[in-house]
Amino acid sequence: MELSGKVALVTGASSGIGKAVTLTLLREGVNVAACARSQYRLDELREEAESLPGTLIIGSVDVGAEDQMHAFVEKARMLLGTINIVIANAGFGIMKPLVEMKLEEFDEVLSTNVRGVWITLHQTVPAMVEQGGGDVIIISSLSGKSGFAGGTAYSASKFAVRGLAQSLMHEVRQYDVRVVAVFPGSTDTRFFDGTPLSPDRDKILTSENVADVILHALHTPRRALTSEIDIRPANPK
Ligand SMILES: NC(=O)c1ccc[n+]([C@@H]2O[C@H](COP(=O)([O-])OP(=O)(O)OC[C@H]3O[C@@H](n4cnc5c(N)ncnc54)[C@H](OP(=O)(O)O)[C@@H]3O)[C@@H](O)[C@H]2O)c1
Repeated sequence: MELSGKVALVTGASSGIGKAVTLTLLREGVNVAACARSQYRLDELREEAESLPGTLIIGSVDVGAEDQMHAFVEKARMLLGTINIVIANAGFGIMKPLVEMKLEEFDEVLSTNVRGVWITLHQTVPAMVEQGGGDVIIISSLSGKSGFAGGTAYSASKFAVRGLAQSLMHEVRQYDVRVVAVFPGSTDTRFFDGTPLSPDRDKILTSENVADVILHALHTPRRALTSEIDIRPANPK
């Protein structure tokens, strides 16, 4: 499918997978509305994207805050036009055993990883249904398919995202809106900073590996839908 000239919204675009997807789409000539909370990291993204063919707009948005997301989506529509692609990617983890975790920490993870995804889609998918087409990519995790010690908040949030994605896929496919859930394994990003997890950074996935499978899903002919994609390091040991 030709992507040049389309408009994409990417959340969590200031680093890691979201940044790699944003740069990949801009290289394809897609115009991208990219958001995250950190303004200075978004400014760095803008500098890196300067010579790429697609147009980039950036916005400082907390995905858990509906008013902020609403304002950014409106700005994106005004400056770039109809949104054809949404990449609901923003997320983070607090990895601790339940016996050590505070309720506030659980709420924080769920607010970004589940509520934030729902808000992002609630602000964008109705227009896709109305216009009769679009592509929604939702980033879950392999932790959304199997639990692990320390994952009572993170893994729970990513299982929830899988249920959200599957349900939405069934709701909107009749309007030619394709919903793809992506389940990455360990990927070398800032995600691991501040967590007790320490994979071998040289062996796990790169953000670009994940961006490539997302691009592949977007290029799939419109009558086909790869509804779930697992991607994991080939040999993490
Ligand atoms: N790295 C992995 O091994 C891995 C594996 C499977 C799935 N994932 C998932 O992949 C997604 C991207 O993570 P990553 O690995 O690329 O980590 P990352 O480098 O830490 O990127 C996370 C992005 O999400 C943004 N973000 C976090 N909380 C936000 C909020 N409340 N509102 C708006 N933006 C927010 C961050 O920007 P700001 O801090 O500037 O807001 C950043 O741009 C996440 O959903 C993560 O769960 C990661």
